[in-house]
Amino acid sequence: MRNTTGPGLGEGDTASGGLVVRGLCKRYGAIVVADQVALSVARGQCLGVIGPNGAGKSSLFNLITGVARADAGSIRLDGVELSGLGPAARARRGVARAFQIPQPFAHLSTYENALAAASFGAGLSAAAAAAQAWDALERTGLAPRARTPAGQLTLLDRKRLELAKGLAARPRVLLLDEIAGGLTEPEVHQLVELVQRLKPGLALIWIEHIAQALMAVADRIMVLNFGCKLLEDRPQAAMHSREVQEIYMGVLGESEAPHGLA
Ligand SMILES: Nc1ncnc2c1ncn2[C@@H]1O[C@H](COP(=O)(O)OP(=O)(O)O)[C@@H](O)[C@H]1O
Ligand SMILES: [Mg+2]
Repeated sequence: MRNTTGPGLGEGDTASGGLVVRGLCKRYGAIVVADQVALSVARGQCLGVIGPNGAGKSSLFNLITGVARADAGSIRLDGVELSGLGPAARARRGVARAFQIPQPFAHLSTYENALAAASFGAGLSAAAAAAQAWDALERTGLAPRARTPAGQLTLLDRKRLELAKGLAARPRVLLLDEIAGGLTEPEVHQLVELVQRLKPGLALIWIEHIAQALMAVADRIMVLNFGCKLLEDRPQAAMHSREVQEIYMGVLGESEAPHGLA
């Protein structure tokens, strides 16, 4: 185990803002999903997260968004403690999440989906929500699809809409949970370019199985297993670490390794 308590991304750089998690613990009965997890991500930085199925990656996002309450630990965003707040209050303070399986309101237009996220997520007035929704569609390249029912979008465009819904909520921190899943290689490339464009101004945490996608965007990568942070390091060093090789090649076999790593 190394680098688990050392400085993370931008720690101490309070002027740039960001997310700082310390001593985060959570268990469901005998299952430990977070065991003293610590991380920090400054605005404009991306922390990649990898780990085998069941490692506690999505649970980490549940704890940050407030969908699940931590047993112990601190979650601060731009210096404000979030732990006592529910999911809606955290969303209003700037915590947003994009899911692997896009679940838009299929019968509503792309614009209406972004508008709903701006209205309910960020708690904006009608006029501010409309402006925020349009801005999110423009930033994700979806403005030409604004009137298209979300259910008719291609998978890549539905992934873009997931990001647009996150952006429409005016996030300070954006949590991406395996958003590249199911895309072809050229589509993954387009998604990576989009995430790179969004990165300035946001603290990003990206859980992703597709190693090349993560390595193109992440400044650092942390490895989770059984709720424990095994290490955090620069992308190349993390991906080629003994810990990652052992987890993916030794114990689980190559079939479960992040794509492009085996
Ligand atoms: N609400 C819950 N109640 C009970 N067990 C849960 C709950 N959420 C997650 N788990 C369990 O916690 C472990 C970690 O899950 P998860 O964080 O989704 O893993 P990952 O995203 O790394 O694949 C799994 O064993 C899962 O079944
Ligand atoms: Mg998961």
